[in-house]
Amino acid sequence: MEIKALSLSNFRIFTRLEMDFPDRLTLLVGNNAQGKTSVLEAVHFLSILTSPLASNDREVINLLATQDDLPVGRLVAKVRKHEKVHMIEVRLILNSIQNGSQRLRKEVLIDGVKKRLFDAVGFFNSVLFLPQMTRILEDGPDERRKYLDQLLSQAYPGYVRALSDYQQALTRRNALLKLLFDRNGDPGQLDYWDEILTSNGAHIIEARLKSTREFEVFFRQQYQHLTGGKEAIRMDYQPSYNGGRSKNGSAQLRFDKTPQQVELQSYNEIKEHFAKRLHELQKEEIRRGVTTIGPHRDEVRFYSNDIDLAVYGSRGQIRTAVMAMKIAETQWLQEKTGELPVLLLDETLAELDEQRREDLLGSLGLEEQAILTTTDLGLFSADFTQTCRIWQVSAGQVTRLNHQLNN
Ligand SMILES: Nc1ncnc2c1ncn2[C@@H]1O[C@H](COP(=O)(O)OP(=O)(O)OP(=O)(O)O)[C@@H](O)[C@H]1O
Ligand SMILES: [Mg+2]
Repeated sequence: MEIKALSLSNFRIFTRLEMDFPDRLTLLVGNNAQGKTSVLEAVHFLSILTSPLASNDREVINLLATQDDLPVGRLVAKVRKHEKVHMIEVRLILNSIQNGSQRLRKEVLIDGVKKRLFDAVGFFNSVLFLPQMTRILEDGPDERRKYLDQLLSQAYPGYVRALSDYQQALTRRNALLKLLFDRNGDPGQLDYWDEILTSNGAHIIEARLKSTREFEVFFRQQYQHLTGGKEAIRMDYQPSYNGGRSKNGSAQLRFDKTPQQVELQSYNEIKEHFAKRLHELQKEEIRRGVTTIGPHRDEVRFYSNDIDLAVYGSRGQIRTAVMAMKIAETQWLQEKTGELPVLLLDETLAELDEQRREDLLGSLGLEEQAILTTTDLGLFSADFTQTCRIWQVSAGQVTRLNHQLNN
């Protein structure tokens, strides 16, 4: 997988941007707030078709452009995938609707042909590493669910659709629960939504369980490597229908055995289990007006030598875990899609000690394409920078620095 060229209009600070990339290493250099991270955000946007940073995709449209009659943000990339060159285009269109508010419409075109979002997610693959991603381990379960969902959306066609259908059904079911409480209505009305919730929910849980197990193999290897063989990482996906972290839940679903020994439940078993628990909880959920179990409440925990990193992890341990996680993502995605994804590293080196920095740089760009950002070129050796194409990023403009090189 390779990105050959990127063109942006009205994306973040860039009213207009045109860049091309060599097949190995690109380095974006610039002071703070000039647009470096926004370039990586744009490239990753083309993979997951949503912003990895914004809480709402509207935020990525250039603020000045939002004053236009019909504001449009546009991302276009020329990519190479399985030896063929393709064009991906994303249009973000802000339509005015009644009462003065605006609604965002997303259009995706691959090779000039409009695609449904669900079908275009993961067409182009990339792995993004931002310094703030330690939050995946440090913050609440929302961050970890979002992390898994974004990763899985690149590998499983259909995953995003199941998520979206699940979310819609969840909203409608919650509204109905409140109504049933207020009006003392017939709980049988829940059946329709329960079926949509459990059929999509089981797809989501099955994919998360299966992929966590596969992913854990790569993650374990990388983490072991980065900790000099001293620490072993383990991931534990905890479906909320098992009652969270209780030990007497369904034993097969707990990852406290080695990954090879885990027996995964089938789609039908998961769906059945989920539906049964929903039924058992019906009275309580009507009283509370909210759906208390399902993939929207599931957890995934990370343990290093059986110590829960979210609770007890040191800063360095968490940084190392996230680094290992990102390298593992590239390997897992390669296994799933048949190609190495493009690696996007934002200010990563500044966070690492010298040994890890050298390890990382030594292994970068040997096979995969990577785009790095930095405020400080001094962190990189001359040997390394000579292998990179360097772009200076300044106030939303980019200029190539080392034209003399052919790369
Ligand atoms: N929708 C938007 N429209 C216009 N400008 C924006 C928009 N969103 C963000 N910006 C601005 O873009 C600038 C560049 O942001 P970006 O995070 O890409 O910078 P950076 O070069 O990575 O900086 P740092 O080194 O601090 O990480 C910021 O000043 C930010 O306020
Ligand atoms: Mg930045």
